[in-house]
This record gives sequence, C-alpha cells and structure tokens, in this order.
Amino acid sequence: MYQCKYPNLFSPITLAGTVFRNRIFASPTGLQYTELKNRPNPAGIAYYERKAIGGAASVCIGDAMVDSEIALANGNHILLDDEGAAAHLNKLSEAITKHGAVASMELSHGGNASRISYAQGNTIYGPSAIETSGFRGMVPILAEEMTREIMDRTVQKHVGAALFAKQCGFGMITLHGGHGWLLHQFMSDITNKRTDEYGGSFENKMRFPLEVIRAVRSALGQNYPIEIRISGSEIFEGGYGIEYGVEIAKALDGLVDLIHVSAGSHEDPTVFTVTHPNMFLADGVNVKYAAEIKKHVTKSKVATVGALNDPGQLEEIIASGQADVVELARGLICDPDLPVKARTGNDAEITKCIRCFTCFSNLMTHKHIVCALNPEISNELEVKFARPAAYKKTVLIAGGGPAGMQAALTSAKRGHKVILCEKSDKLGGVLRCEEHVPFKKHLHEYLEHQAYMISKTDIDVRLGTEVTAEYAADVAPDVIIAALGATPVVMPIPGIDGDNVYFAEEIYKNSDLAGNKTVILGGGLVGTELAIYLAGLGKSVTVLEMAPEIGDGGNILQGQSIELELKKLSIPLALNTKAREITKDGVVAEYKGERTMFEADTAVSALGMKPLHDAADALRFIAPEFHQIGDCLAAKNIYEATRTAYSIAMGIGRAV
Ligand SMILES: Cc1cc2nc3c(=O)[nH]c(=O)nc-3n(C[C@H](O)[C@H](O)[C@H](O)COP(=O)(O)O)c2cc1C
Repeated sequence: MYQCKYPNLFSPITLAGTVFRNRIFASPTGLQYTELKNRPNPAGIAYYERKAIGGAASVCIGDAMVDSEIALANGNHILLDDEGAAAHLNKLSEAITKHGAVASMELSHGGNASRISYAQGNTIYGPSAIETSGFRGMVPILAEEMTREIMDRTVQKHVGAALFAKQCGFGMITLHGGHGWLLHQFMSDITNKRTDEYGGSFENKMRFPLEVIRAVRSALGQNYPIEIRISGSEIFEGGYGIEYGVEIAKALDGLVDLIHVSAGSHEDPTVFTVTHPNMFLADGVNVKYAAEIKKHVTKSKVATVGALNDPGQLEEIIASGQADVVELARGLICDPDLPVKARTGNDAEITKCIRCFTCFSNLMTHKHIVCALNPEISNELEVKFARPAAYKKTVLIAGGGPAGMQAALTSAKRGHKVILCEKSDKLGGVLRCEEHVPFKKHLHEYLEHQAYMISKTDIDVRLGTEVTAEYAADVAPDVIIAALGATPVVMPIPGIDGDNVYFAEEIYKNSDLAGNKTVILGGGLVGTELAIYLAGLGKSVTVLEMAPEIGDGGNILQGQSIELELKKLSIPLALNTKAREITKDGVVAEYKGERTMFEADTAVSALGMKPLHDAADALRFIAPEFHQIGDCLAAKNIYEATRTAYSIAMGIGRAV
C-alpha cells in the first residue's frame, strides 16, 4: 500500500468550517501585472493560479489595500475599495479555487508608511505623528496622528474590504498585523506614542487592532476563516521581543482562526532580510517564534513562515506541534509544485529556493517577480500557450554549468535529442567551487538537483569532453548551444601574477590557500561573499573596492544582507580604494591620491569575469543554428543564465 511520507503535512485542517487540503499555505506575495487601478490582469492571475495547481492548500494575494486614498505604501496594490475591480478579483479567486485551494486576500494598510499616498499629496496617518525613512535612499515621509474620525473610517474600510473580498469569491482573509503596517504600528512602542486610550498600556495599544478585528468578524460571521499576520518579535534592537509577541497572540486567541507568526518590521529596514530570511540564516530561522506562541494559545491555530522548503522539516514542524500550518513564499515561487512533489514522494524533484533575493529585489526594482532558478514563474501564460516543437533536432550543448544544464533539460523536455558536454568530470560549472561554503548549501543542492533531473532523462551526458570545432563538426548537430562560461578578469596590476595571488574561484575551492591575512580586490558579490566565507573560517580579511559602495549586481536585498553580514563579522571594507601593486607583504592601494599598504600574506582577485566569446565564436558556424547563453554571453548571475537557457531552448524547433 502507498505510504505517504508526510502524513501530518498532508492532513487537512479546518478553519471556521472551511477545509484546507493540507498544511502548506502560499504566504502572501504582492501583486504584479495589472491594468488600470491595479486590477489584476490575466498574467497576474496566472501567477497565483500556478501555486494552486501545484497543490498549496491556500493561496494568498499580498498587500491588497483597504483604503485607496491614505493607505498605499507601494506602487501596485489591489484596491479593495475599488468596486470596478470585482470582475478581476472574481476571476482571480476562481483561478485559485477551481484547483482545490482556498483563495485568501491579504488586507493591509500602510499607516505611517503609506509612501505612495503621501506622494499623491494625501495626508497619511499612523497611531502617532512620526517620520518614517524606509530603505536606503528613500525620502522620509511624515504621518499625522490618527483622529477618531480617521480611526472610524479605517475600521469601516477594513469591514468593506473584507466583505468585498468575500463577495469576490475569496474564502479567507488575512489581516496584516505585522511587518510595520498599520495594525502593527498600533501594537508597537516604536510607532505608538499615544497618550489616550489607544496608547501606553498593552490593553490600550491592542485596542484599535481589536476594534478592527471584531468589526471584521462581526461583518463576516463566525463561519468564515480569518487569518492575521503578526510579528512574533520585532527582532531589531529596541523593538519588542517574543514575550510581547506572546501577549499579542493571547489577545487575539479565539478572535481569529489562524495566527500567522512572522517577524520583524520595516520600521527598521535592517531586519527586512530576517523577515524574509537571507541565505546566511538557518532554514526555518523564525519557526521558534510560532513555536513559542503555540504554547500559549488554545483556540486559534498557529502558522509559521520563513526560509522553509524542505518537506521533511515541514512535516517535523507540524508533527512536533510547533505550528499547525506552514506558509511558504519563496519556496513556492521557486517551485510551485513543491506540495504535489512532496505528496507523491518525489521530493528529489523539488527545486529548492536558495534565498538569493532575485524575486523580491526584482519586484522592488522592476515591479515583477522573477526567480533565479525557476524561469517559468511570471511566465505562466507563455508556458500555458507554448506550442510543442514542430521539428525534433539534435542539440549539442557545450558546457554543463547552470545555463547548459537548464538548456539541456528544457530541450529534452521538448523532445529534442540532446548531447551535453562538460569539460570537467562533473556537471555544475564554476559554481561547484562554492561546494564547501555553508551559506551556499542550497546552491550546491540546486546543482545536484539539476544533475539529478538530467540523469532521469535520456540526455547524452559526456563528461571530460571539451567541445572543439572539430568535435562539434564530427557530431554534426542541428543546433549548437555555447554555454562555456567565463574566465576571471586579470587587471594589469603589478604583482598580480605573484605566488601569493589567487582568483576567488581558487580560494572557494581550497580555502587553505588563503593565509591568515587576506586582502580581496573587488567588493562585488563574489568578493564580499568570499570575505564572509573566509571570516567564518576564522581568517582575517579586508575587502578593497574602488567604487564608493559595494556592488550588488542589481540585487539590492542580497546587497543589504551582505552589508549586514560584513558588519556582523567586523570585516574591514576599504571603499573608493584602488589596488596599485601587490607584493609579498600585501597590497598597496590608493585612497584619495594617498597610497597605503594593506598587509596580507594572500591577495585574491575578484575583479569580475570575462565571457568566453572566442571559444564560442569557434563554434558559431558549425551547425545551422547556434546560440550563446549564460556567462558565455554576458557574465552576470544564475537568473540570467537560467532564463536565457530556458527561453532559447523553448524556441528550438519551432515552426518558422
Ligand atoms: C516577492 C515577495 C513578495 C512578497 N509580498 C508580500 C506581501 O505583499 N505581503 C506580505 O505580507 N508579505 C509579502 N512577502 C513576504 C512573504 O509572505 C514571507 O513572509 C517571506 O517571504 C518569508 O517567507 P519565505 O522565506 O518563504 O519567502 C513577500 C515575499 C516575497 C519573496
């Protein structure tokens, strides 16, 4: 008989009479792809539908705003007081519910962080008059203290929004009472300085959030699930801790059906990468908050969230009673099929999130969600309407790194005959060098995962095989894909060819090559991550960067995580500093025209990568069709590698 590996995880749970098919809920993620007034369009709807298809028990639409005038924090919220959105929202809920998941709508209010409303010239309100600065580079905004009239309006806006969501087919609402949004602002000493009956004592600080919850409950009735997100701990220095989080949960116990325990507050942007745990933190780092709260509530169920994607760990959380529900955001962006794969015992096929922040950084900078490892996310409609390859081709892929592996998998899936050649004795490419780096554990797993997925196909893998022009001519394929990667840039610095100078890749492979004192040339992602790795091994390390800031390659949240880590590990960072010479005693560098000696026994060059264009050019005209992908085209990151590989492979053999 079939034995489900995760019986607790896949047990249903009933909230206010609604049955949820398992314990995996898709944590709220914000909206993208909209029409006028942020009404979701088919591409936006398909993004959420995909998670329902993958087996999540509930799919939550993030940060829908209850008040379109004074509550808007970001650019693209659904507006729950926009009656014209009804058709769009009904379509959205239907896209989720028809696959057996419960559609949930998150009700938010930016309060004192309503940056967009402020920019639109509206007065914004928090519990108290306060200036909020937000992320680096943001202009501070000033909120006024909420008057009784605005409080009444806000309660009514929540009620209206909840009824509207219900009327539009949503089977649950999630009130946002964490992360520094309005309800949380009332609960927190940092933002609530009131001296009336809504500030001061704990009871007073909870009064307004409870007024909202009670009004919403009374409007929706007892037979409708209400979830609330709270921050179990604000985490940052001076913020409240878990003891206070427990008190909040006790006050909510029984009033809501599910208390969803997150952490942090954007009141202090340095904890943003703990709310959304970065790669330097442990898996499930925030589960402890839910587990503590679970001990103290008796009526409501408890959910946990943050850095979760391993079915074994999810099962353990439920089985041990640390939480009743597990919520995943990035885990399901990376692989929306995680639930169905775990349910059917195909765990090895799950693509696990590496917490690189490509998704959220892209949402902040380019207004839509992409994933470094999942090229199909946000392209659901393209995938849905992709036509099968009209012609079956023989595809020769030169290079078995992330781009080559993705191209091979996608080509094979579309029915082509694929030969994948890799010069070394292992698939994985240059990123294999980071195998021993603790915070790259999930990246290593990803490379293993892709190699495993390839092993399950009939792709002809040829290791230890360099694709020369002669070799390619001999194979005589229809298509050649050059995924040859890149080579480190060598800067013309005197001494760079010395015995004590290495490339980052060499040190990643063998950290013993670095002595006790290392200077890294280049403060991009490669250099700074290497510094963190070496410091973690107890070595002294300094980073030199000629620019005024460390480079994040456009991934602002990974950049922020690195900055925090550099600070935590007290790694010296010399900015605006240019290496002029490397000697056996260290690196001579120039800062504002003055030269200084940075003593070191080892210097590491992390000054960028140069695509292997010449090697690719040698293959350009050997076959009728030729493509150059990944670092071999432009040395960037896994996201670029994966998406170009996927898209190029999707186009092979199409009818022209
Ligand atoms: C791209 C992205 C968008 C998000 N948007 C929202 C949102 O609109 N509302 C919200 O409450 N949380 C939002 N979150 C936070 C997640 O719900 C979740 O709490 C957080 O990412 C930690 O979970 P994870 O480690 O599974 O990603 C978002 C997260 C990501 C990655």
